[in-house]
Amino acid sequence: MHFDAIARVPGDPILGLMEAYAQDPNPCKFDLGVGVYKDAQGLTPIPQSVKLAEARLVERQTTKTYIGGHGEPAFGKAISELVLGANSALISAQRAGATQTPGGTGALRLSADFIAQCLPGRGVWLSNPTWPIHESIFAAAKVKVSHYPYVGSDNRLDVDGMLAALSQAPKGDVVLLHACCHNPTGFDLSHDDWQRVLDVVRERELLPLIDFAYQGFGDGLEQDAWSTRLFAAELPELLITSSCSKNFGLYRDRTGALIVCAKSADKLTDIRSQLANIARNLWSTPPDHGAAVVATILGDPELKKLWADEVETMRSRIAQLRSGLVEALAPHGLRERFAHIGEQRGMFSYTGLSPEQVSNLRDHHSVYMVSSGRANVAGIDATRLDLLAEAIAKVCK
Ligand code: LMR
Repeated sequence: MHFDAIARVPGDPILGLMEAYAQDPNPCKFDLGVGVYKDAQGLTPIPQSVKLAEARLVERQTTKTYIGGHGEPAFGKAISELVLGANSALISAQRAGATQTPGGTGALRLSADFIAQCLPGRGVWLSNPTWPIHESIFAAAKVKVSHYPYVGSDNRLDVDGMLAALSQAPKGDVVLLHACCHNPTGFDLSHDDWQRVLDVVRERELLPLIDFAYQGFGDGLEQDAWSTRLFAAELPELLITSSCSKNFGLYRDRTGALIVCAKSADKLTDIRSQLANIARNLWSTPPDHGAAVVATILGDPELKKLWADEVETMRSRIAQLRSGLVEALAPHGLRERFAHIGEQRGMFSYTGLSPEQVSNLRDHHSVYMVSSGRANVAGIDATRLDLLAEAIAKVCK
């Protein structure tokens, strides 16, 4: 029959953890797998600002007809200002434009197809390690993938290794950089490091693709945009993928954007014509609901203030969980070994635990994390930090 030769492939290693965790009957289990924020009640809440914006939309929205290929202009403007700054010269000069996408992942896939179709022959450089879906998206788009070192086997940031590799990259290649809250490691570049990366990007004439999935979860909404705005100010051309999944809690509503910065307004129009064309073959026109929520929030000063406060609550809770876990590990003589958890940023920590230790944690203590040793710190239950630390100490013996 037609389907007889179709084999089964393994499930997604990150999303699969959600299912495995849900099926574990142990009431004392820990979900440190997929990158979702959890509050003190262990829930991934819908922010109040989102609820209010949704109520407004239910009341005022008059149609569900298609939106254009680039999505809702009000969303495009709002997200561009959030990323590039309210007073961005690029936006005023009409040199930056956003295309609404189904989540940050959709923006990445659109970028990959854009590179494959409009910049043929260009390879992309990914950090080693990176989010596994970066690897598969560019492979699916048939863009050649190379890697630059990012974190070494000592679980430390390797900026010199990164710069050395990028200095050898073929001119014109694309380099994917994580704006902040590096996924999976949680190690971010310092301002000085970013300046050095910028120098190499200029010298090798590389095209940066900045993946900005966690704005507000590192040091703050404005602070986290520092590197992206530096590159936008210093370079004539740039691709930015932005996600509203985490900072607006809109995970399942698939809300994101690909923001392109070009040399001129005219060139931007050319590029956007290509993007709309590529998107038409991927998802036709983008989903509306999440983007309408974001545009409503960012377009209303009161809702925007409420939302910014809610992001700050999530950010500071994650920071407290980081220091809390290091404190809880201290009585086990593990403070120094895991001090990096307190220094990393965002939801994730590359703990340095081996795949074997990770599977011991899962099998004997119902602690779920990615086999690379990546833990979603934002999923930790603060009232059970001691139990988590005890489990980690046991597998480290
Ligand atoms: C993660 O890395 O856990 C998140 O970005 C969710 C995902 O889609 O993998």
